[in-house]
Amino acid sequence: MTAHEDVYGVPADGRWAAPGRVNLIGEHTDYNEGFVMPFALPHNAVATVSRRTDRLLRLHSADGDGGITEVSLDDLAPGRVTGWAAYPAGVAWVLLADGHELGGADIHFTSDVPVGAGLSSSAALEVVTALALSDLNGLGLTPDELARVSQRAENDFVGMPCGILDQMASAACAAGEVLFLDTRDLARRQVPFAMAEAGLRLLVVDTRVKHSHADGAYARRRAECEAGAAALGVPFLRDVPSDGLDDALARLDDPVVRRRVRHVVTEDRRVERVIGLLDAERPREIGPVLTEGHASLRDDFEVSCPELDLVVEASGKAGALGARMTGGGFGGSAIVLVEAASAEAVGEAVREAFAAAGYAAPRVFEAVPSAGARRLTR
Ligand code: GLA
Repeated sequence: MTAHEDVYGVPADGRWAAPGRVNLIGEHTDYNEGFVMPFALPHNAVATVSRRTDRLLRLHSADGDGGITEVSLDDLAPGRVTGWAAYPAGVAWVLLADGHELGGADIHFTSDVPVGAGLSSSAALEVVTALALSDLNGLGLTPDELARVSQRAENDFVGMPCGILDQMASAACAAGEVLFLDTRDLARRQVPFAMAEAGLRLLVVDTRVKHSHADGAYARRRAECEAGAAALGVPFLRDVPSDGLDDALARLDDPVVRRRVRHVVTEDRRVERVIGLLDAERPREIGPVLTEGHASLRDDFEVSCPELDLVVEASGKAGALGARMTGGGFGGSAIVLVEAASAEAVGEAVREAFAAAGYAAPRVFEAVPSAGARRLTR
């Protein structure tokens, strides 16, 4: 008997998976309509689903408290469902608000995307739900639509004012590739990222410092960026030309806003430099750009934390090519680019530095660009 049958007593109609992500570069640019460059992790949220003939949506997580969250599709509203179940419930709510016809469903979730680690476990839950409901109800949503629906669920149902990075990464990434995405119009290009062939490895270091964006720090950064754009008379910080950055900064009175603007504008340029290096098949040279990006997030955007800074510092001393925090920050994970031959030693150096600083042991694993959201079985 499958776990879904065990919980719901009926066979499933299908199984779907959607991954977590790391972002190679392009942090806090998405809500400024800038560039991002994520790839999907091999870690997925998996939804096993059976249709219901009534209007009930029932949600169960193998990682939860064992209970089933039950809500009628007709009663969905922000605030009605809380905790992890708000992500899938929010997706159903957005689909209904868009006028799609949905039937009830029994959904069983499992996930091996680390939670609270800045690796988009919530986007994985949203996107897998959106894809499963799209397939089961014959909606035929495209990856862009799946991502937009999922982002709105998070913005308007869960209440986290995130951009589109995580949801697009989960919906549209492909194995072996990074996604170079313009968040303004979702124009994109898949870029081969064959690290193993180049003798490189990309490590993820989960600091185990749980990030929480709901506490308002993320929303404040977003508001500061919007204040910067308004002061400069542009729709979004994306629209500040890089050769006009010094002028723009000189026109800003608020030193905090000035630093936020400098991060966003220089970060967009770093994404362009990284894409240029990958296109030129010079992957090693992205290392220093990653480290530069970290310094900007630490000093100008102020979203790092001592543990993330220590990953960058200790891995650099141990010979890493470059490192940076990835995701929203305030805890979570860092990525470290290393020569394959020194991967073990760099991981060990980071572990030792954490022990010496009295921090909890980090979780270190290799990130291999993996498949985006997909159906697993009929
Ligand atoms: C979080 C948000 C994304 C993005 C990143 C920072 O992951 O969900 O939309 O803003 O932070 O790049």
